[in-house]
Amino acid sequence: IEYMISPHPLQGKHVLITAGPTQESLDPVRFISNHSSGKMGYALARAARKLGAHVTLISGPSQLRAPYEVDIIKIQSAQGMFKQVLSYFDFQDYVIMAAAVGDYRPKEVNDQKIKKENERFDLELVKNEDILNYLGHHKTKQTICGFAMETENVIENAKNKFLKKNCDLLVVNDLFEEGAGFKTNTNKVALITKNFVDYLDLMSKDDLSDLILDKLIKVKGE
Ligand code: CTP
Ligand code: CA
Repeated sequence: IEYMISPHPLQGKHVLITAGPTQESLDPVRFISNHSSGKMGYALARAARKLGAHVTLISGPSQLRAPYEVDIIKIQSAQGMFKQVLSYFDFQDYVIMAAAVGDYRPKEVNDQKIKKENERFDLELVKNEDILNYLGHHKTKQTICGFAMETENVIENAKNKFLKKNCDLLVVNDLFEEGAGFKTNTNKVALITKNFVDYLDLMSKDDLSDLILDKLIKVKGE
């Protein structure tokens, strides 16, 4: 019989969290990026630390302060993030991919500033490795949480991502929901697990972090 619930259920556990945007350079002065602020990933890192975990936060460029007692590693590109994630993956108990990883990068990076010589400029992009998908198909003991950002057919698309990437939990954002999205302190999401879809109310990213970790601990125990 479980007669005591630990206030530190992640004591001794390793949790890897990615956060923020990536920046994909095209020359020394320019990059392609997205609107991610890093708020969700940083909130998750704080929450996991409070539950006793050893937390590693791999973050793209973000204005946010590093969370207390969390190991933070700053990267710029999706390739940089992938490399760092791989070097920590083996000994993790949980991995949470909250980062808004760039799907594509410029095929070539100019060493010199690109000059506006022509009337049009075509930029060729190539696909970045899907980090979450890679982890889902190479996991050993890790419980893996992905995020999904959708603007239409939200639940259907998200269920497909959940299955394809072999996640244990997928947190789905609908960008067009009031109070959800990149810069807000609140979020309205649904949680997808193997057998359920939980529609959550609008709540702070701090509260949502507690809920996500709670869910992950349960999923791992199942
Ligand atoms: N992700 C990743 N590596 C990438 C792209 C995305 O690890 N190169 C992760 C994100 O961190 C997130 C999840 O995949 O946890 C879903 O990201 P999302 O952009 O919603 O889905 P994609 O699979 O990239 O599909 P699309 O952008 O076409 O909807
Ligand atoms: Ca994407």
